[in-house]
Amino acid sequence: MTDKWTVDNLPDLAGKTYIVTGAAAGIGLITSRELARAGADVVMAVRDPKKGQAAAQNIDSTQGSIEVQQLDVSSLASIRAFGAAWSGPITGLINNAGIMMVPHRVTDDGIESQMATNYFGPFALTNALLPHITDRVVSVSSQLHRQGRLRLDDLTGEKRRYNPWFAYCDSKLDVLLFSVELQRRLEKSGSAVRSMIAHPGIAKTNLVSHVGGVSGWLNGLAQPLLNEADNGALPTLFALSEDIPGNSYVGPDGFGSIRGYPRVRKPSRAARHPRRAAALWDATAAIVDQKRMNRLST
Ligand SMILES: NC(=O)c1ccc[n+]([C@@H]2O[C@H](COP(=O)([O-])OP(=O)(O)OC[C@H]3O[C@@H](n4cnc5c(N)ncnc54)[C@H](OP(=O)(O)O)[C@@H]3O)[C@@H](O)[C@H]2O)c1
Repeated sequence: MTDKWTVDNLPDLAGKTYIVTGAAAGIGLITSRELARAGADVVMAVRDPKKGQAAAQNIDSTQGSIEVQQLDVSSLASIRAFGAAWSGPITGLINNAGIMMVPHRVTDDGIESQMATNYFGPFALTNALLPHITDRVVSVSSQLHRQGRLRLDDLTGEKRRYNPWFAYCDSKLDVLLFSVELQRRLEKSGSAVRSMIAHPGIAKTNLVSHVGGVSGWLNGLAQPLLNEADNGALPTLFALSEDIPGNSYVGPDGFGSIRGYPRVRKPSRAARHPRRAAALWDATAAIVDQKRMNRLST
C-alpha cells in the first residue's frame, strides 16, 4: 500500500454528473475516462464533436456513462447556449479546456484567444451553470500563473502588444483569482459548493505540440523529465473528489511540482489577493455583460 494518491482512491461516483470541458484530448480525456470508470455520468464538452465522439469510443463506460456535447469555451454565445440548454443537477464542473502560446487571434467577442479560452470561458461557463452545480467547480490552472500579471486595464488583451507566453501566464493567474472570489461568494451565500484549482505539473499532452523553434526543441528535450499525461489528470481528480477546503490549489508533489502525485500546494501571493480577486470579478462581469449588449444590438 502506498500513500500516493491515485485513481484507485476515487470513491464510487455512481449517480454523480460531471461536465469536463476540452475533453476530446489530453488531461480532459483522461479525467473523463477515470470519472466514467468510477461510475459517474460524464458530459464531455468539446469544441469538435466528431473528435469528441472518436475519443469517447475508447472509454469504457460500463460503470458510468459518457455523452458528448458541443461547447466552444472561447465563445460567449456558445457558453450561453450550453447554459440555457442544460437541465438537471451537476455534481462538478471541470474547467479544463485550454490553449497555450497560440498565434495571435481575436475571438468574435473581441477577446484575445488565450484569454478568451483560459479565463473568460471558465468565468462565463461557471456563472451560467452555477445554479445547477451541487458540489465542485474545478478549474485547471498552471504553475506559470507565477509569471502572470493582473491587467485590469486591458483584460481582453486589446491594448497591449501580443506576447504568446505572457498571455498564457496572465490567463492562468486570472483563473486562480477567479477561484478566490468564487469561493468567497459561495461561502457568503451559504452554498455547499466548493471552488478548487488543479494544475497538472508539466504533462506530456498536445498543449504545446504546435510550438516550434527553440521552445519546441527544449520541450522535446525535456520529455523524459515531465509528468505522464495520466498523472497530469490526478490533481483534477483529487480536487473534485477529496474533502479539502474550498479554493485549494492541487498539484504534483515532486520537485518544482513538475511531476508526481497530487497534494495541496501553495499558489503565488499574487494569486491569493482577495481585493484584486474581487476587482477582477467585477471587471470581467462588466465586460461579459457589455459583450452580450453589443451582440444583441447588432
Ligand atoms: N500539459 C501541461 O503540461 C499543462 C500544464 C499546465 C496547465 N495545463 C492546462 O491543462 C489543461 C488541459 O490541457 P492539456 O495539457 O490536456 O492540453 P491538450 O492536450 O491540448 O488538451 C486541451 C483540450 O482543450 C480543448 N480546447 C481548446 N480550446 C477549446 C475551446 N475553445 N473550447 C473547447 N475545448 C477547447 C482542446 O480541444 P481539441 O481537442 O479540439 O484541440 C483539447 O481537447 C489546459 O487548461 C492547460 O492550460 C496543462
